[in-house]
Amino acid sequence: MPKKRRRAPASLPPVSVVILAAGEGKRMKSALPKVLQPLAGRPLLVHVIEAAGRLSPEAIHVVYGHAGESVRAALGQEPVNWVEQRERLGTGHAVLQALPHIPDEQMVLVLYGDVPLIRAQTLAELLARAGTGALSLLTVKLDDPAGYGRVVRASGRVRRIVEEKDATARELSSHECNTGVLACPARLLKRWLARVKPHNAQGEYYLTDIIAMAVKEKVAVVPVVAQDVAEVLGVNDKQQLAQLEGVLRARRAHELLLDGVTLADPARVDVRGTLTHGRDVFIDVNVVFDGDVSLGDNVRIGPGCVVRDSRIGAGTEVFAHCVIDSADIGANCNIGPFARFRPSSRLKDAVHIGNFVEVKNSNMGEGSKANHLAYVGDAEVGARVNIGAGTIIANYDGANKHRTLIADDVHTGSNSVLVAPITVGAGATIAAGSTVIGSVPAGKLTVARARQSTIEAWVRPRKPEK
Ligand code: UD1
Ligand code: CA
Repeated sequence: MPKKRRRAPASLPPVSVVILAAGEGKRMKSALPKVLQPLAGRPLLVHVIEAAGRLSPEAIHVVYGHAGESVRAALGQEPVNWVEQRERLGTGHAVLQALPHIPDEQMVLVLYGDVPLIRAQTLAELLARAGTGALSLLTVKLDDPAGYGRVVRASGRVRRIVEEKDATARELSSHECNTGVLACPARLLKRWLARVKPHNAQGEYYLTDIIAMAVKEKVAVVPVVAQDVAEVLGVNDKQQLAQLEGVLRARRAHELLLDGVTLADPARVDVRGTLTHGRDVFIDVNVVFDGDVSLGDNVRIGPGCVVRDSRIGAGTEVFAHCVIDSADIGANCNIGPFARFRPSSRLKDAVHIGNFVEVKNSNMGEGSKANHLAYVGDAEVGARVNIGAGTIIANYDGANKHRTLIADDVHTGSNSVLVAPITVGAGATIAAGSTVIGSVPAGKLTVARARQSTIEAWVRPRKPEK
């Protein structure tokens, strides 16, 4: 059962949301059910559930059908009630499945799992217009209305909705379309849907038939015309999915620009999640932000970076083509180009991580550097440490991962291997090319490599002359 939600604002009556998501989505040509297809990194259905959640409804019922078990399994954490529609007999039939869960005195708001950009603000307006006794429906004026049900008006008033396949040529000339989104009292919806018959071109139980029923009973029908077409666009194929991705990308970029972030190209930054930021942040082209990311003042992100669930401190510059996952990076650090952070690392201020350096599950103290070609895994690194080019922390013995402790002011020579678990004392220097397997004392030079020697009498083999 759904979790109890906070009551809707006093101006709105108690509302239960029904989200229709039993569509097959064949045109996606994908093994993944349509409503699980990701938009800005999250399933289509999650976008709708979130918009609905912002209204603080009494409950959200998701009607699922074909391949529905995988939808439930994937989104089992969502605070919704799952209602199965065994046979896909039409939108009216789909809504009917949820009605036994909804008390008569509530309002019902019908949404669609494949119409992801609907805004809570629009829904609140729709509910406000319906009040407690009317039916309000969201319509949209489209240049190309093909495929949509048309709103039939007489003397300006909505009379009914006709599906394209049932419409006359005259009705088809109307460009006012039914978005399918509507709000009405549960009490009336129950009565009307029980009377809907599948007597139409598609042999389906049409939700849209209730409009004419309301008109007949002199229940007020209040149309609300959507101002932003993108909000009511459905997703049926990958082309439409890409189109909505573009809409979301543009929306987010627009918000960032208004907020004072400099974007090298607003068409080439993707925010899949939430991005919080300070002042004078600069973001170059083709950057992807995923999950929760926060950027301090004056942060610069170079082109081609992917930043996921991370915090980047003020004044830090991330150069081109870095992948940063679940890292907490301090202020005034230099990262990249071509650096990779795997979860989960913490860098203090003024740390430098250079090209082809991988950092995983490690902490690094202030002013430490790993400027080239290194692996820092499962390590506690102190302050002012210099990790030489080609240093590898061998943290994995094939079965277990071990930690490495590197105290302050250590220098590791180029191409050294530190076999964990190991402790390196403060101020130690490890000679280039060393493989160290035991603790390294503080303040000394430790050499762990074969001594250089020259074989005087050696002669290079030659092929016999022919
Ligand atoms: C429906 C509307 C049409 C409107 C259009 C907007 C009806 C009869 N028609 O038409 O007026 O212009 O949406 O896109 O309502 N679904 C179920 N179970 C079913 C049938 C549908 O869950 O048995 C869900 C689908 O997953 C989909 C939505 O309802 O998300 C709409 O169904 P669809 O068959 O696409 O309706 P349309 O013919 O597009
Ligand atoms: Ca449709």
